[in-house]
Order: sequence, then structure tokens, then C-alpha cells
Amino acid sequence: MRDTEAGDSAEIAARLAAWYDAHARVLPWRVGPAERAAGVRPDPYRVWLSEIMLQQTTVATVRAPYLRFLARWPDVEALARAEDGAVMGEWAGLGYYARARNLLACARAVADRHGGVFPATLEGLRALPGIGPYTAAAIGAIAFDLPATVVDGNVERVVARLFAVETPMPVAKPALRALAARLTPGVRPGDHAQAMMDLGATICTPRNPACGRCPVATHCAAQRAGIAAELPRTLPRAPKPARRGTVWVARRTDGAVLLERRAGKGLLGGMLGFPTHGWIAGDAEGPPLAAPWRAAEVAVRHVFTHFTLDLQVMVATVDAEAAPGRGAFVAAEAFDPGTLPTVMRKCWDAARGHL
Ligand code: ADE
Repeated sequence: MRDTEAGDSAEIAARLAAWYDAHARVLPWRVGPAERAAGVRPDPYRVWLSEIMLQQTTVATVRAPYLRFLARWPDVEALARAEDGAVMGEWAGLGYYARARNLLACARAVADRHGGVFPATLEGLRALPGIGPYTAAAIGAIAFDLPATVVDGNVERVVARLFAVETPMPVAKPALRALAARLTPGVRPGDHAQAMMDLGATICTPRNPACGRCPVATHCAAQRAGIAAELPRTLPRAPKPARRGTVWVARRTDGAVLLERRAGKGLLGGMLGFPTHGWIAGDAEGPPLAAPWRAAEVAVRHVFTHFTLDLQVMVATVDAEAAPGRGAFVAAEAFDPGTLPTVMRKCWDAARGHL
């Protein structure tokens, strides 16, 4: 680490605040700096919903589903009353489905245990389902202006550069957190957290950072050393393991499609999809019903966080009396591929031309 003196921290925070006042991104869940100055307070429900959706996902991906969720369930009490299947269906395509199960559990906990009011402390937030240290800090800062330090990948990059931390990730994480905490001001900590995110997303980008437009470039040790674009350094990654499996797509002559709701809390748990086997613990063996199965020409590859999955797609057209050993036929009018997880949507696309 090279010197960016401690005395710089207040100056960096002040410059960042001025930059945020002029350049804050307009985001559907955000109370912008001008509104904030006029006394508008963020709705903790909206902040919480956006933070859960934004975990592991980009702003661009979240915009549309966030607005759909909000239109359908405008407050935490409404979401707490929602049916599990409806919420899982709206979440389809966002991935990391444990988040959707926790979302419902959290809404119900806030409704049942807190009278529909989100707790305004980090400890209170942490005690809720699906809210870990990062999300508690983000909600605490943004919704309640608590002086919490919010450290996501964007913030790690900004801090690694400002202080020219050359230790590779993930080893550098604790040091970057401590440096980010040093930058967190006592005034407007919520806007500071969002300013750090915006700087990382729009200027201090992973490749080709726009240092010429950066409000804190003159305080940036990496920029001075000419290594901004190289940071944060990373250790070489191990290749992802590969798994193989089979997916069974059956359609009745009347157009009904065989679907199964997955049990459990693991990957895709609680989600609707086609029966599969061979790639996930606890999956049933073999096809869900006896039928003249044919292999689709196109296989499906889907990359999960920890492995790559190759699925052979088996298709069959069956008559209206077919009785599956698992899952249930869903009438053609009620079948909406948009409510399936992405991997299952790919399977449908591979299968449909054969049915
Ligand atoms: N990423 C995580 N939280 C965010 C937020 N509140 N605004 C923009 N990007 C984010």
C-alpha cells in the first residue's frame, strides 16, 4: 500500500459528496440527493427489496423485476401475504433462488415480529432472514443513514486504487474493508455509500477507468503510480468443475407440459422446472414417466457459480392419459416459460422444436 494519508479521507469524502450531488445515477429505488436535501426519506421496504435483488446481480438486470415486484406488492405487508409460488415465479431469471425464499421469510418476519416496520439498527436487520453483514450495512446506511461501511465489489475496487493496495483478492478483503471504513463520514453516510457504488460503476470501472473524470483522481495513489487499471490484483482462478445430467421435457397431445416444483433449499429449490436427473443431490432417478423419449439435437450448457452443467435434453410427446411418476402436467394456457429459472428456459428452447 502506498501513502494516501489519513488526513485525506475527509477530503476524499467531501469531494465524493459534491460529485454525487451533481452526478448521482437515477435509480428506481433511490431517493436522489436533491430529494434527500428536501427532506424525503427512503422507504426501508424499497431499499431492502432492491438490496436483496442486487445481491450478485447487476443494476440493469434488476430494474424491470424490481418495478414489477413493487407494482404487485407495494409494501412489506402485501409481500408477506403473497403466495410462495407467485414470488418464485416473479423471481425467475434472477438466479440465486435462495434469495427469493429468504425474501418471503423476511417479509413475513417483519410483518409478524415487527408490526410491518423494518428495524432501524444493524443488529435488528441482521436478525432477519436473508440479511447478512453486507446487506444490513447497505440497508442501514441507505434507509436509516447509519454510519455503516458498505463494501461490495465496486467499493473494493475503488479503495484498492485510492490506496494502491497491491495485495491480490481475496486476501486483500479485510484491508480494503478497513480502508473503506476510514473513508466513511459521519454526515450523510447513506449518500456516501451510494456515491462509492456509483463511482465504481460509472468511473472507476474494472477496465479502462475514466480517471480524467474522477472527482478523487488527485488523491488516488494507483493513478499517481500509473497502475489504476491493474487493480485490484487477483489470484489465478481454478477452473469450474463440470457436471452432467438429463432433463425430461414431456408434452401431452393437448399441449400440457410436465413440470415439477423442486423441493428443498438448495440450488433451484422451490422453483418450477422440468424433471431432471444425474446432476444434483437428491434428484430422482430416471425419466418421470414411460414414453418414447428422443434426444434433442441441442444440449444445454448453463454456468452456475460453482460448476458448469451440461444437460442432455430428452423430449417426448405423450397422450392425454399419461400418468407421471413425479411432477404434474400444466395446461398449455397456464404454462409460462417466463416463470422458469434460466436453465429451464434454455431446456424449453432446446426441446420445443421437437415437440
Ligand atoms: N448495488 C448494491 N446496492 C446498490 C444500490 N443501492 N445502488 C446501486 N447499486 C447497488
